[in-house]
Amino acid sequence: MSAGADNGSTDRVAVITGGASGIGLATAEHLAASGHRVALLDQQGDLAEKSAKELRNSGYAALGGQVDVTDRDAVDAALTKVRTEFGPIDVIVTSAGIDGDVPFVDLTLEAWNRLIEVNLTGTFNAVQAAVPDMIEKGWGRIITISSSSAQSGAPNRAHYVASKGGVIALTKALAFELSPLGITANTIPPSIIDTPMAQNGVKTGVVPDLDALATMTPVRRTGTPDDVASAAAFLASDKAGFITGQIIGVNGGWYL
Ligand SMILES: NC(=O)c1ccc[n+]([C@@H]2O[C@H](COP(=O)([O-])OP(=O)(O)OC[C@H]3O[C@@H](n4cnc5c(N)ncnc54)[C@H](O)[C@@H]3O)[C@@H](O)[C@H]2O)c1
Repeated sequence: MSAGADNGSTDRVAVITGGASGIGLATAEHLAASGHRVALLDQQGDLAEKSAKELRNSGYAALGGQVDVTDRDAVDAALTKVRTEFGPIDVIVTSAGIDGDVPFVDLTLEAWNRLIEVNLTGTFNAVQAAVPDMIEKGWGRIITISSSSAQSGAPNRAHYVASKGGVIALTKALAFELSPLGITANTIPPSIIDTPMAQNGVKTGVVPDLDALATMTPVRRTGTPDDVASAAAFLASDKAGFITGQIIGVNGGWYL
């Protein structure tokens, strides 16, 4: 095996929640390109299947499925389908998420609960449903997508920031508990990344103009889904086996 080879990624099975769009889709593409069989699970089932089909047309093993990560039965059913088609799950990437924008004093309990349900409980559901396969194999990779806003704080997004802070804490807890079993757990808290979520945020005023943001970012450009996917693919590889419990910022040197 040459020094640059990515030993052992081929034949592994990776599940990506939020795989139909943005960071999740780019991560699915990177993992497919490094030899994984990928399952793109998303609330937008048609889009997930369309993206999976494009990957299959490029010669990769991919399937798409409709799943709401807040629905544990649906998550379990989707992973059963993945196991039937591809085998046990080696890698779980949790990118499914929603954003929010409301002053704290106007934040309703309903909106709070919804953000926690999708971003934090949805992460819990997906990871807990996948982990038994990893324990069985004595090898696994958990990669959660959190947010730099949970490191810095952000106005009008208490529910979003708290949900992502929970994702960071959950990931660190999992690293302590599961790393002795061969399973690493790391989180990527991206800064603003040019995805449909961010573009929608620009439209509604939650996110500043991306060009303006780029001028304030040390690397002087906007982050792309590929920037995050590259880091996720590395964390999924054998080469990242000594990295666990870490918060791997992908933020151009500055976080908002
Ligand atoms: N884009 C950014 O600037 C940015 C920054 C920091 C963190 N993030 C996080 O990265 C992740 C991916 O975001 P993105 O920017 O790619 O956004 P995106 O909107 O392009 O992708 C998110 C995907 O999650 C799916 N999803 C939403 N709710 C779901 C549910 N209940 N069940 C299943 N799927 C669901 C959506 O259908 C969508 O395909 C999110 O968790 C987001 O919070 C994004």
